[in-house]
Amino acid sequence: MAETLIDTSVLTADAPRQEIVVATVADLAAATRNTALLRDTSVAGVCHSAPDSRLGVLVVEDDCVSAELLANSLECFGYRVTVVEDGLEAFELVRTGDYRMVVSGWEMPEMTGAELCRRIRQRDWSRYVYFVLLTSHNELGHIVEGLKAGADDFLTKPFQVEELRARLRTGERVLSLESRDVMLFTLAKMTESRDIETGMHLERMREYCRILAEELSHWTEFKSTVDGEYIELLYLTSPLHDIGKVGIPDRVLLKPGRLTPEEFEIMKLHTTIGGETLAAATSQHQDARFLTMARDIAFTHHERFDGKGYPRGMAGRDIPLCGRVTAVADVYDALTTRRVYKPKFSHQRAREIIVEGAGTQFDPDVVKAFLRREQEITEVARSMDENSAAAMPVPAMKAAMA
Ligand SMILES: [Fe+2]
Ligand SMILES: [Fe+2]
Repeated sequence: MAETLIDTSVLTADAPRQEIVVATVADLAAATRNTALLRDTSVAGVCHSAPDSRLGVLVVEDDCVSAELLANSLECFGYRVTVVEDGLEAFELVRTGDYRMVVSGWEMPEMTGAELCRRIRQRDWSRYVYFVLLTSHNELGHIVEGLKAGADDFLTKPFQVEELRARLRTGERVLSLESRDVMLFTLAKMTESRDIETGMHLERMREYCRILAEELSHWTEFKSTVDGEYIELLYLTSPLHDIGKVGIPDRVLLKPGRLTPEEFEIMKLHTTIGGETLAAATSQHQDARFLTMARDIAFTHHERFDGKGYPRGMAGRDIPLCGRVTAVADVYDALTTRRVYKPKFSHQRAREIIVEGAGTQFDPDVVKAFLRREQEITEVARSMDENSAAAMPVPAMKAAMA
């Protein structure tokens, strides 16, 4: 193989997103300890310099010439490669969780490549496995069958090594995005784990945010801001709104009942702790839009449209749109679920409170969007209500019905 094809930079092309999140975890850990923000990039460095940190690729191919070409090429690209000849053996290896990508031939003994892919997709793996099918026929029938089986990409034999590299690079991007999304939500869940009262709050409120932003995306004045990417980023980052609570002492955060004025002042600090932590990460990774949005949400989700909110007393459209949307979603969920300091309100009562707050607490446009998509919002509330049969896991539902 030509030396010019070997470029291990492909392996780090998508690393920054994961480093950002890992570094942010480190920052939050520092915030919790009430020390200066930790910006130790070596934390991320450790991940990448670990001896077996190479991405595992499983090659499934009974044609030994093709298998050898694949293995040599992939090793040159810096992947950790294992070659097997049949689908059954491959399936057992995928079960170990050591392989994030599979490159599989079409015709093989025991199990075809499409069947192997189908079986992998049927299992609920904790991590996504990117599947590339090799085929010597560029027939539509094979592509359709492969797509139905859940294949992510196809490579027609004989293939160019550069094409193989490009396809796997795409796979890495997909896996990297999945890692980012999972880590963002894990980070948010970490905060929630300190406050068991809130149940599925994050899951519901991200849905409310998505619905509200989706509605606004159709309005002329928001069209240039709220596009598909904006909606996705809002969905991903809104669960981080209270991330700063990791820095609030337990005596305040976990206090049953109402907070005293002094305790409330401490609680309010969660906006600046979260916002400043994410701002520190943003300053080092200025092209990461999700960090910018997460920072804005953490800082501004308790600001009010009339300027009487906190921490800065921002008003009107000075408050970033993501903060104005999150404010409505967050309050609606707090109203319609039971909290230690209040009972659960009906949708009608919560609706009245949201409408009364239009122009004072909330952006009137966001409230208008809320009213237009009210039915979808109540459907989310109903289907994700952890106290209702609709949201029960099946075994619990059966037990309740027995
Ligand atoms: Fe908050
Ligand atoms: Fe919240």
